[in-house]
Amino acid sequence: MCGIVGYIGKRDSQDILIEGLKKLEYRGYDSAGIAVFTKNGLEVRKSIGRLANLEEKLDGQPLEGSVGIGHTRWATHGKPSDVNSHPHTDNSLKFSVVHNGIIENYLDLKDELIAKGAKFVSETDTEVISHLIAEEYDGDIVKAVQRAVKRMRGAYALGVLTEFEPDRLVAVRFASPLVIGVGEGENFIGSDIPAILEHTRDVYILNDGEMAILTKNAVELMTIEGNFISKEIFRVDWDLVTAEKAGFDHFMLKEIYEQPKAYRDTMMGRISDDGRSVVLNEIGMTAEQIRGIRKIQIVACGTAMHAGLVGKTVIESLARIPVETDVASEYRYRSPIITPDTLVIVVSQSGETADTLAALREAKRNGARVMAITNVVGSSVAREADDVIITQAGPEIAVASTKAYTSQLIAFYLFGLFLADTLGTRDADAIAEVVAAMHELPEKVERILTEAPVLKSLAESLAKHNNLFFIGRGVDFAVVQEGSLKLKEISYIHSEAYAAGELKHGTLALIEEGIPVISLISQEDLYEKTLSNIKEVKARGAHVLAVVNEGLEEEVGKSVDELFAIPKTLPLLAPALSVVPLQLLAYYASLARGNDVDKPRNLAKSVTVE
Ligand code: F6R
Repeated sequence: MCGIVGYIGKRDSQDILIEGLKKLEYRGYDSAGIAVFTKNGLEVRKSIGRLANLEEKLDGQPLEGSVGIGHTRWATHGKPSDVNSHPHTDNSLKFSVVHNGIIENYLDLKDELIAKGAKFVSETDTEVISHLIAEEYDGDIVKAVQRAVKRMRGAYALGVLTEFEPDRLVAVRFASPLVIGVGEGENFIGSDIPAILEHTRDVYILNDGEMAILTKNAVELMTIEGNFISKEIFRVDWDLVTAEKAGFDHFMLKEIYEQPKAYRDTMMGRISDDGRSVVLNEIGMTAEQIRGIRKIQIVACGTAMHAGLVGKTVIESLARIPVETDVASEYRYRSPIITPDTLVIVVSQSGETADTLAALREAKRNGARVMAITNVVGSSVAREADDVIITQAGPEIAVASTKAYTSQLIAFYLFGLFLADTLGTRDADAIAEVVAAMHELPEKVERILTEAPVLKSLAESLAKHNNLFFIGRGVDFAVVQEGSLKLKEISYIHSEAYAAGELKHGTLALIEEGIPVISLISQEDLYEKTLSNIKEVKARGAHVLAVVNEGLEEEVGKSVDELFAIPKTLPLLAPALSVVPLQLLAYYASLARGNDVDKPRNLAKSVTVE
């Protein structure tokens, strides 16, 4: 989850590295550093904290040179500090390395290297790599890197420079993302495409065990065994502006407001002209194979997992196939029953989450077909799955996921309808009804967004509390779990989400005078039941905010303290609307508490370690 950028060319590298790191800061932001070949040799500058600290250090003392590497760090081994920041060097200071990932056997390697005289200055696993490369070096940096990585176990994307070969930049990856940007008279490396997008749209996406040797005029690709390979250039059609805040105070708010577009884009080209069927050309499964599916397992982490909880309801309801959901970090350790007639669906915004990737591989090893729902074309998950539905949410920068989550819901609706069509569990009229309601979702989200000031003032009251509860029934329970996570991660208010009927089995003991309870009621067949649960908490002094379907205001209003109404849709589609006020409540509560909304403490956007 750290960010890497590298440059070799004819321009001064410092600004290119810093600008690239700014685009990557969301991947990890406890420290940053760069190494540049200057007239004095390989010089390194690094600093704990935000990039601005590093920029301050460089102010007045710039590193001038046209070859360099840079890094933003999210600590895994060793606390955030200047010395633990990357780039790391060896004792001769002739080799410099930036690294994303974790070296599992670094302690053994460190002992070995210390026994041979190496002196370590940091607590990181990465420093081992610079010493290893220095030890393996005998005049060819490419061979030294190849030999060094063979001694390492774990995950790595590396950018490597040596003062002995100042016209080469070496990049190598295993289990951590890395792209190579191809320019004219200059080339780039990046852990993520936005880091280099300002300079080039032509990239090579490295696979595990592949490396690139960059000079200013050429890029050579090979395996870590030393076999040359050729690859097609991937032309990136992202607009850089979509990765900027576009006038919003925070990326999160911008991304919440981008949801109507994300819904439309995710549906685009996937619904037949007559609106009576779903067209998923990206699914390679034959009708025969689909009819053979006996069970579906949805596996993901965090917010993506919460989309999976909705996905379970959607698929079971539309296609009548039993669905299990698993948290990815648990999946492979519970010995899941995976048979060839199991379809495993992994959901991952980034497509790089280590736990989700491990689950995907476990499923494939056991013979399951794996379908991915991801937001990142060319991500590890996208490349390894058999079938991929790309959510067209565009780059999501805020750590707290919003538009990626709701686009995942849209993907589940599309896939559920696709299954229903193939299996004949819903006829074309029924499919057309759902499709028509889906087309109305973006406009309904826009209506909710116009009510943001109301949610802001509700959130300002919530922000004064340290504990609160969310309740809901049916698919509303899935949505409140997401609402609760959103609130926790950015406002740092402790909250718990409960199936409304479950409170009385223990948690009711925690309800006391004034505690906020947010109750979601979008499933009208269950509304009377939830209303009884609201009465239970009201009787014990809770302050209840109900998010309800339009039309229920009067009835529910009699029993609650505050009310927010959302437009009506089909019950199955309600999560795509009802989560939006919960996202805004979390956003404004975080703002009211003065938190860093886009970069909540202790978290990173893409979690590429187990
Ligand atoms: C929370 C959030 C995380 C991610 C989780 C999985 O707002 O974003 O819970 O959903 O870390 O990440 P992806 O979807 O990239 O696999």
